[in-house]
Amino acid sequence: MTYTDPMFKNKELDGKVIVVTGGGSGLGKSMSRYFSLLGAKVVITSRSIEKLQKASAELQKETGNEIHPVACDVRSYEEVENLLAETLKKFGKADVLVNNAAGNFISPTERLSSNAFDTIIDIVLKGSKNCTLAFGKHWIKEKQPATVLNIVTTYAWTGSGYVVPSATAKAGVLAMTRSLAVEWAKYGIRMNAIAPGPFPTKGAWDRLLPGDLKEKFDISKKVPLKRVGEHQELANLAAYLVSDYSAYINGEVVTIDGGEWLQGAGEFNMLEKIPKELWDQLEMMIRAKKG
Ligand code: HXC
Ligand code: NAP
Repeated sequence: MTYTDPMFKNKELDGKVIVVTGGGSGLGKSMSRYFSLLGAKVVITSRSIEKLQKASAELQKETGNEIHPVACDVRSYEEVENLLAETLKKFGKADVLVNNAAGNFISPTERLSSNAFDTIIDIVLKGSKNCTLAFGKHWIKEKQPATVLNIVTTYAWTGSGYVVPSATAKAGVLAMTRSLAVEWAKYGIRMNAIAPGPFPTKGAWDRLLPGDLKEKFDISKKVPLKRVGEHQELANLAAYLVSDYSAYINGEVVTIDGGEWLQGAGEFNMLEKIPKELWDQLEMMIRAKKG
């Protein structure tokens, strides 16, 4: 096997109803495809119904399983309540919510209007809050066990310049994950997160590496494993975290970035650049200082 292979081989998500926000493109679409292949009924949602209809037709053909598109701007609590109602109408229940929808673009923070900053916070933090609260209230009322999976980023805890609204919002989502993992465990609701490093998608790359920035900053070079992520790797992890195999994992954030953020964090990781031959000389110099 290789890391691009699907991990589960049977219908491990059979009988589950999974709602994926931002499920019509990028990583959301890749996760939805795999959940559907594993037997789940999937609801994909975002602002663009045309995009969702195209994606659901394509995925349904591939997986032979039903995928229901519902238009919803996660910034609106009323639209999120409608998403829940549509899910219940179509499939009778909801077992899993994946908060994957996001907005982001690079910019020096002082160039941002107040509305630009708000837009990102509203999609990422308020959107995840709206979905979690609406679905959570329903699950608690119905006494239904459930799972929430939040897609954050590694800069949710390190922070990052030039994507400050996104970093601020993702940090909030991470705090919500860990807080509710404890508070709602008594209702049988699990909360986990995935923090991906670079996984090329059109949505992210158009906004984070526009023009020739892709060539100027070869992002795979920042990763100790010297490559970017494959969508199936992330889908494998997501499928595990929403499946019953991970029933004892709660409040966790799983990093999947080839070691990227730690490379930036480790004080002496720059010594990677020292050629092998120089280490004899350096060792001698250090030993000579003894006593
Ligand atoms: C400065 C900008 C801007 C830019 C928009 N704005 N783009 N300001 N630089 N490049 C400002 C606008 O002028 C406006 O402010 C405000 O932001 C809202 O813009 P709208 O276009 O009206 O918003 P909307 O139509 O809601 O679109 C939201 C969006 C857009 C975020 C701006 O890019 C979008 O739809 N994105 C969704 C998909 C996405 O972002 N995917 C990437 C996820 S990657 P004013 O003041 O003029 O009204 C990710 C993690 C990556 O999250 C981590 C990688 C390792
Ligand atoms: P993407 O394809 O642009 O995904 C973002 C999705 O969110 C789109 O489908 C978009 O659809 C939807 N969306 C945006 N605003 C919305 C709103 N107001 N209401 C509902 N849906 C909305 O980018 P991606 O790379 O796959 O990102 C997916 C997730 O992974 C995000 O949470 C992102 O932060 C995270 N992530 C990605 C990477 C990476 O390298 N790609 C790394 C770390 C984290 P519409 O435009 O139709 O609404």
